[in-house]
Amino acid sequence: MILVRVRDVRVEAEDIRSIDLVSADGSMLPAWTPGAHIEVQLPGGLMRPYSLFNGPEETDCYRIAIKRDPASRGGSAVLHESVARGDNLHISAPRNLFQLDLQAKRFVLIAGGIGITPIFSMFRALIAADRDVTLHYFARGAAHAAFADTLFEHSATRQVNCHFGLDEAATRARLHEILGDHAVAMGDALYICGPTPLMELVTTQAHSTGWPEAAIHRESFGAIAVSPKQHDAEKSFEVVFARSGKRCVVAPGQTIIAAAAEVGIVFDTSCEQGFCGCCLSRVLEGEPEHRDGYLSKAEQAAGDQIMPCISRCKSARLVLDI
Ligand code: FES
Repeated sequence: MILVRVRDVRVEAEDIRSIDLVSADGSMLPAWTPGAHIEVQLPGGLMRPYSLFNGPEETDCYRIAIKRDPASRGGSAVLHESVARGDNLHISAPRNLFQLDLQAKRFVLIAGGIGITPIFSMFRALIAADRDVTLHYFARGAAHAAFADTLFEHSATRQVNCHFGLDEAATRARLHEILGDHAVAMGDALYICGPTPLMELVTTQAHSTGWPEAAIHRESFGAIAVSPKQHDAEKSFEVVFARSGKRCVVAPGQTIIAAAAEVGIVFDTSCEQGFCGCCLSRVLEGEPEHRDGYLSKAEQAAGDQIMPCISRCKSARLVLDI
């Protein structure tokens, strides 16, 4: 964990505020790349992930933006109401699960609402590198759009296109236009960040207009959305804890962590949604069914680590190095 000080707090839009964090002891902060996020520790030890929206020249601080969730009792409410300039916070080092593939020739970036934060960082890095990039920003209205002044500067060149106040049908039609007009060529890359319904709409429209899956990159914090069909298909499996020899059976709908607690095995946890990394465990045997947003695709494919707060097992038996 890194101790940081709040250097500045600003209102970016009606329900969005941004916070600049600098190292509390004046030392350099670990490097980041566009698309990276940090986790911020909140009262009670809760960890919440926030994407960095830094531009390439902003290397002396971490910049995060937080949308106020009216239902929030912890994360966004605390950062909106209780955190002020000069306060200290603990954060994790940056981690990037939403890397820009700089081999791509053209970039289409689509953001919805607060999903603009990693996309804004990517956009500024690509503009600074003189790359071929187009950004589409969907929001409820101009008053709810963060970083609007900077983005509007690029709207004359059509590098930024704002789509405000559209309902679902209009959003679907607009996405079809955007993605259909963009004749997909080898080396094109699509990056999406926003609320799950928008990400699903973009993905569907991208597939139907010829975008290959390998060219579509998404940022999803937390657990992967599990469909009711997947829930119905869940089977029980056995987990063996190699160091103690204890074992338990994880029932459909139950987490490994909950089943483990019944036999006295307690994991370190924080988010319990698969994004903070706290419960990371080594797999000695078995085939994990990953549902987290913490491990990279390559780490998930390796199959030797699992987040037991959210993931399950495809095989009948899972052996953990615990
Ligand atoms: Fe956060 Fe499992 S508790 S990833």
